[in-house]
Amino acid sequence: MDGNGRWAKAHGRPRTAGHREGVKSVRAVVEECVRRKIHTLTLFAFSSENWQRPRSEVNILMELFMAALRGEVRRLNDNDVRLRIIGERSAFSEKLQRRILDAETQTANNSALNLQVAANYGGRWDITQAVRRLVAEAQAGRLDQEAIDEQAISNRLSFPDIPEPDLFIRTGGEQRLSNFVLWQSAYAELYFTDTLWPDFNEAAFGHALDDFARRQRRFGQTSEQIEAWMTTQTQERT
Ligand code: FPP
Repeated sequence: MDGNGRWAKAHGRPRTAGHREGVKSVRAVVEECVRRKIHTLTLFAFSSENWQRPRSEVNILMELFMAALRGEVRRLNDNDVRLRIIGERSAFSEKLQRRILDAETQTANNSALNLQVAANYGGRWDITQAVRRLVAEAQAGRLDQEAIDEQAISNRLSFPDIPEPDLFIRTGGEQRLSNFVLWQSAYAELYFTDTLWPDFNEAAFGHALDDFARRQRRFGQTSEQIEAWMTTQTQERT
């Protein structure tokens, strides 16, 4: 969700106003996912590197998270959205950690959309904590070295029950992954747009989805193999 600061600057307002405006785009995209029956959405809200921002901006972001966790639960329940936070949450205040747990518990039975908000998250952190778990299990004698394969690593990342992303969207004109879901995005389609996050509304999200729908995902196979497979699928369905 990049571009909140630049949006604010362009409107002659403080950076924090951009983050507040960004919350509206979060609502719009979440509700559009529900309408379109998209089952998983992961938002990168705060990276491990974002702690380096001015203290006042970090504070405002934490307040926004607190307010959203308190204020949005009802709307999430109305939309049948399950909220989970991925990232190293021990760095947050006890109060924020409690709020996170409350919001997760209150939405735990919802199933239309799995909404994951990455906060104090980094893709390398995720892989590192998976490796730590593997080593601990191996040292405890519960895991053979031969059993460590890609699936074993995937199973120990944050929320292994969530499918890998099909589409990776970055707003705000940057064309980098910036340490987001690195392992999980191995086959994700990348979509970069200059639109700043506060301007990323239903229509802009629709453009990203239309662009994705036009792509052919081959997973290492040839176009001919994919087309033959799609023909079989269509025949089986009719
Ligand atoms: C990046 O824009 C955005 C962030 C670091 C914060 C994202 C937070 C929100 C959208 C609001 C809260 C979210 C939830 C889920 C309640 P930037 O500040 O790097 O913008 P810039 O690149 O223009 O400086």
